[in-house]
Amino acid sequence: MSKSVILTGIRSNEEPTLGNYLGAFVPMVQMQKEYAGDYQINMFVPDLHSFTTPIDHSGLYRNTLNNLKYFVAAGLDLKNPHTFIYRQSYIPAHSELTWILDCFTYVGEMSRMTQFKEKSGEHNDSVTMGLFNYPVLMAADILLYNAKHIPVGEDQFQHIEITRDIATRFNNKFGDIFTIPEATQQQTSFMKRDAGLRIRSLTDPTKKMSKSSTDEKSKILLIDDPEVARKKIMSATTDSIGVINFDWEAQPGITSLLQIKAHLSGKSQDEVNAQWVGTTKYGEFKAAVADEVATFLMDFQARLASITDDQLLYKLEASEQEMRRIAGETLLRAQIAVGLRSKEK
Ligand code: TYM
Repeated sequence: MSKSVILTGIRSNEEPTLGNYLGAFVPMVQMQKEYAGDYQINMFVPDLHSFTTPIDHSGLYRNTLNNLKYFVAAGLDLKNPHTFIYRQSYIPAHSELTWILDCFTYVGEMSRMTQFKEKSGEHNDSVTMGLFNYPVLMAADILLYNAKHIPVGEDQFQHIEITRDIATRFNNKFGDIFTIPEATQQQTSFMKRDAGLRIRSLTDPTKKMSKSSTDEKSKILLIDDPEVARKKIMSATTDSIGVINFDWEAQPGITSLLQIKAHLSGKSQDEVNAQWVGTTKYGEFKAAVADEVATFLMDFQARLASITDDQLLYKLEASEQEMRRIAGETLLRAQIAVGLRSKEK
């Protein structure tokens, strides 16, 4: 019997942030540690998803390889034979299945996607078909490998739900073609989290920390100079209430720093809150979070510097070959279902 698949992807449009690290890299690495052997782990770079909004294309190829290095620096063990790292565009079945799924996906449901609405608002002079079609390509990414578990941050939950809807619709029409990924609630409990994670912008804590934001102070990049990152935390937006509380509604800025502190220190939120909530020491607390972030970045960047291209390329090419085989099998099932290929061999 083939193993159950855990799969996630991180776009290479911009340098990843602390939000990407805590929302997607960490859960994937933890799962590898916990489940290695029992599950197949697919960690890939959706390079085709990386220019649904405008980017500097001269950096895309390099950024894609760098992103894969970040997985390793975050602790992903490349020696594990059940772990695969790959680039989406190197497996043509992703694009081919997207077209088939497109023909079973409604314009109305795509128009309701929150991320599309937000991003098309930001880039309203240049909303592309790629941005609109983004969730369908993401559905293909997941369905091609029969993945059930998709560790992602909260902003991607709607895309997992639409993947389930598209796959269920297809299966209802054609029989058991696709494995349906688990619902987002089950995904969260599989990640051993109470809720989907959303690390906030440092300058507007009502929004998520986003790698595509042009406000440099709003985000901590994994390649930030630790001293620069320290300053970003010290100047993060908080409030004038004067007492530290864990309260997303009334004090989102300070609450977001409490959240970052807990996630980076490996302590529970309750432990961190017990130390700081109720105190008035905003400056001291910010300095403690800044230290935590700077130390994390120093360690992370030291690990990153030790990873060579050769180490990575060897694993990448082997993984991509195997992924073409697996994805090709699913694509063929879908092609037979819609009548593009014959049932008879
Ligand atoms: P991307 O590159 O925008 O984000 C990568 C991952 O980081 C998570 N994330 C966050 N988590 C917590 N707090 C934040 N502030 C934060 N910002 C980002 C995202 O939820 C995501 O898990 N569409 C995906 C890429 C993708 C994919 C897939 C993922 C393409 N195909 C198939 C899983 C399965 C995305 O937005 O990546």
